[in-house]
Amino acid sequence: MGLRNRVALVTGGGSGIGRACVEALAAEGAKVFIVDRNTAGAAVAEELISRGHDVEFAQADVTDESDVRAVVQRLDEFYGQLDTVIGCAGVSGPVGATAEDITVEDWDRVMAVNVRGNFLVAKHTIPLLKRSDIASIVFLASDSALVAFEGMTPYSTSKGAVLMLTKALSVDHDGLRVNCLCPGVVDTPMSRADLGRPQGFAGTGLPVIDAQQIGRHAAFLASPVSAPINGTSIVADFGYLARSAQPALEFS
Ligand SMILES: NC(=O)c1ccc[n+]([C@@H]2O[C@H](COP(=O)([O-])OP(=O)(O)OC[C@H]3O[C@@H](n4cnc5c(N)ncnc54)[C@H](O)[C@@H]3O)[C@@H](O)[C@H]2O)c1
Repeated sequence: MGLRNRVALVTGGGSGIGRACVEALAAEGAKVFIVDRNTAGAAVAEELISRGHDVEFAQADVTDESDVRAVVQRLDEFYGQLDTVIGCAGVSGPVGATAEDITVEDWDRVMAVNVRGNFLVAKHTIPLLKRSDIASIVFLASDSALVAFEGMTPYSTSKGAVLMLTKALSVDHDGLRVNCLCPGVVDTPMSRADLGRPQGFAGTGLPVIDAQQIGRHAAFLASPVSAPINGTSIVADFGYLARSAQPALEFS
C-alpha cells in the first residue's frame, strides 16, 4: 500500500481496533508509534518487535495537552518523520442511561476523550504531517455518528462531532487528507463490556465486525492507495443505512 518505512502514530493502540490498526500498519512495513494511556500498549509493542516490526510505545492521556505535546515531540526526536495518524483512543461512557440520569461528569469525560483528544492529537501532529508527501489522518468515528443507539447519547453525540472534525480539518489543511471510519459493532474489549458479552459474539447471530478488518480499512485510508479520498467517512454497517424504513414494496 505504499506504507513501507512510513511512520504512523496510533492512539489507543493498546487494545481493540487501535491494536488491529497497529498490526495492519506494521504488516505493511510501517514504523508504528503507539500512544495509549494504558501500559498494555507496551506489551503490544514488545510483541510486534519480537516479530521483527519497528514499533514504539509512549504512555499519554490524549485529553491532556501537555501529554500530547510531549509524545509528539518524542516521536519527532525518535523518527524525525510522521506520515499518518490514526485516532482510535475512545471511550463509550455511560451506556443504557438517558439524559435525565447522565451526569455532567460522564458527559464531559466522553467529549474530552472522543472529541478534544482527537482535536489535540491533530493540533500537535499537523506541523509534522505537513513535512510528509502522503500526510493523512484517520479517526475512528462510528456508525453512531449516523444512527443513534438507545442509551448512548454522549457517545453518539461525540461521534457526530468526530465526523465533523474530520470534514473541518480536511478543508483547512492543504496536502493533508483527513478521513474517518464509521463501523458498526466491532468485537473488542469495549463492545464486549458494553453489550455484556465477555466471551465475545460467536454464535449470537449479531452482525459484528472483526477488529482486524477495521485495522485494514484504516491502513487503506492512511495509505496513498486512497489518495483522492478526503474529508469523508467509510461506513461499515453491512448495508444497514442503505435500506428505507418502508417495508419491501409490492409492485404490481
Ligand atoms: N468496538 C466497537 O464496536 C466500535 C465501533 C465503532 C467505533 N469504535 C471506536 O473505535 C475506537 C476504539 O475502540 P475499541 O472498541 O477498540 O475500544 P477499546 O476500549 O478496546 O480500546 C480503546 C483504547 O483507547 C485507550 N484510551 C482510552 N482513553 C484514552 C485516553 N484518554 N488517552 C489515551 N488512550 C486512551 C484505551 O486505553 C484503549 O487501549 C474508539 O474510538 C471507539 O469509539 C468502536
